[in-house]
Amino acid sequence: MKIAIMGAMPEEIEPLLERMDSYEKVEYAKNSYYLAKYHELELVIAYSKIGKVFAALTASTMIEKFGAQKLLFSGVAGAINPALKIGDLIVATRLCQHDLDITAFGHPYGYVPEGSVFVESDATLRQIAKDVAKDAGITLREGIIATGDQFVADPDRKAWIAETFDADALEMEGASVAVVCDSLEVPFFVLRAISDSADMDAGFDFDTFLENSAKVSADFIIAMLDRLLR
Ligand code: ADE
Repeated sequence: MKIAIMGAMPEEIEPLLERMDSYEKVEYAKNSYYLAKYHELELVIAYSKIGKVFAALTASTMIEKFGAQKLLFSGVAGAINPALKIGDLIVATRLCQHDLDITAFGHPYGYVPEGSVFVESDATLRQIAKDVAKDAGITLREGIIATGDQFVADPDRKAWIAETFDADALEMEGASVAVVCDSLEVPFFVLRAISDSADMDAGFDFDTFLENSAKVSADFIIAMLDRLLR
């Protein structure tokens, strides 16, 4: 069983690579993939670069070229739900693309052609996360994550995404990974730690908290791997 762990930015995978027993770097499709060993687990780790296109390419490559049979995403997100503060963790129950718009043809916002608005993540992986959180005394929120090719730093856009999709957090990769994994029938899981609140201060907060929040998420993923090894 090979497990893929992906992030979007170097900061999101560096804390994972540091914890590996060993890894080998393979270049493919203008990106770097790390074939890693963590105790008895075989992993493929990569950061996609930002946005839905790169994320879909990386997820597809991890599955089709490197043979990943499960995929875990680790990274940061902007909070929509006011209960989510910087550094808090959220697991996506389901994900949607807030910038996908074919409403001109009578479809709802976010509707994926021949698909649906939302893609659901794997319930077993989510349960493992809940068990890890419970044992470690960590608060883990579950909710809807909205994805788009936009860094949201605008209260009006944030409010629209909140109302339209009932979303709790937003980022720029998760839903495209979800569509890829759903199409290829690979169980997937998206974990994010909050780096900002997608408001006027988002750019500053993101730069300030990216590294720390990315590590919070990565550390939780390592705890999930430890649980899978039990
Ligand atoms: N990832 C983290 N914060 C974000 C934001 N405000 N917009 C989009 N993606 C993000």
